Amino acid sequence: MRECSNNIPESTFSALLDALSRGESPGREGWRMLLSALDGGQAERIRDRAFEVARARFGGGVYIRGLIEISSCCRNNCYYCGLRRSNRHASRYRLTAEEVLDCCREGARSGFGTFVLQGGEDEGQDDDWMEATVKAIRAEFPAQAITLSVGERSREAYRRFREAGADRYLLRHETRNDAHYARLHPAEMSGAHRRDCLRALKELGYQVGAGMMVGSPGQTVDCLLDDIAFLEELRPEMIGMGPFVPAAHTPFARHAAGSVDLTLRLIALMRLRFPDALIPATTALATLDGRGREEGIRSGANVVMPNLSPVAVRERYSIYDGKASWGSEAAEGLRALEQELNRIGCHIAYGRGDYPGHGGGLK
Ligand code: 5AD
Ligand code: SF4
Repeated sequence: MRECSNNIPESTFSALLDALSRGESPGREGWRMLLSALDGGQAERIRDRAFEVARARFGGGVYIRGLIEISSCCRNNCYYCGLRRSNRHASRYRLTAEEVLDCCREGARSGFGTFVLQGGEDEGQDDDWMEATVKAIRAEFPAQAITLSVGERSREAYRRFREAGADRYLLRHETRNDAHYARLHPAEMSGAHRRDCLRALKELGYQVGAGMMVGSPGQTVDCLLDDIAFLEELRPEMIGMGPFVPAAHTPFARHAAGSVDLTLRLIALMRLRFPDALIPATTALATLDGRGREEGIRSGANVVMPNLSPVAVRERYSIYDGKASWGSEAAEGLRALEQELNRIGCHIAYGRGDYPGHGGGLK
């Protein structure tokens, strides 16, 4: 028999998984064990259990969200991101409201039940522009969910967007550890402000997405434990986690990429802890590993976000190097995506895919 020095003792391991399936937190030291380098057997069992939980909840359905990258301009200077304002090599564009609507039309024809408007913090797409654009989408598409991912704005702006018809908001907390946050961002940004935004969004009734990069520079296991504790406190409806991918012409251009395996482990653990959560198999995962998206779903993810941006600008929304936007990462590739999902016993779930108890109907 093979000795597996990295395994958690079997009784402890099953007790941790049982706690999760009862809806209890394993606690910081329990999480630490679950995140540790486990021998293949236990790591696989975590992912298998998470996949079962996702299949039981969602019947093998994987929600699709049409991702529209509305602007590559950003006033922020996050050290890890290719769109940071100091990157003179970044190619900048900004879609007009009519171009965004065209993407939505294309998306609606393909059967998307959610449009995600994602962009840098672009002062050229100010609160008035966002509000008017959301209103126009809502007027033309009463049945689709509208998700925004346009960074930190005032509570009043978030209120106006919500009123205009936005249902969901993605704003990753990036890291809950303030020292780590300071390593990833210039001093004018703060983790505390980011968390205030997330709480405001929750209070306004948005379905909220938080999350973090895995393997970002300076991240330790304790940072991840802080992240998990924060997610347990905030209880976001959506949890976006992808590996860090180095981006050219940024301070971390030569830093190693994050671990695909650790990302998959985190997806599985968050599925077990938050069975109803909407968890994407992220583009960053698909970028680092040709089978990343499929593996993400096999680890409990239940959302994919194919790219609906105009083909002419896709290459230009370059948050990191080599970002996948073709094949089944693209909205034109839904048939390929369906086949990919069928191979693992899953299928595309059309429809809005709201978190239980939220949305679902016309506004
Ligand atoms: N690698 C991986 N993810 C990144 N993001 C930004 N830059 C990178 C990178 N280099 C993520 C951030 C942000 C989201 C839109 O993209 O977490 O919130
Ligand atoms: Fe701007 Fe977002 Fe990139 Fe930061 S991560 S520089 S806020 S686009």
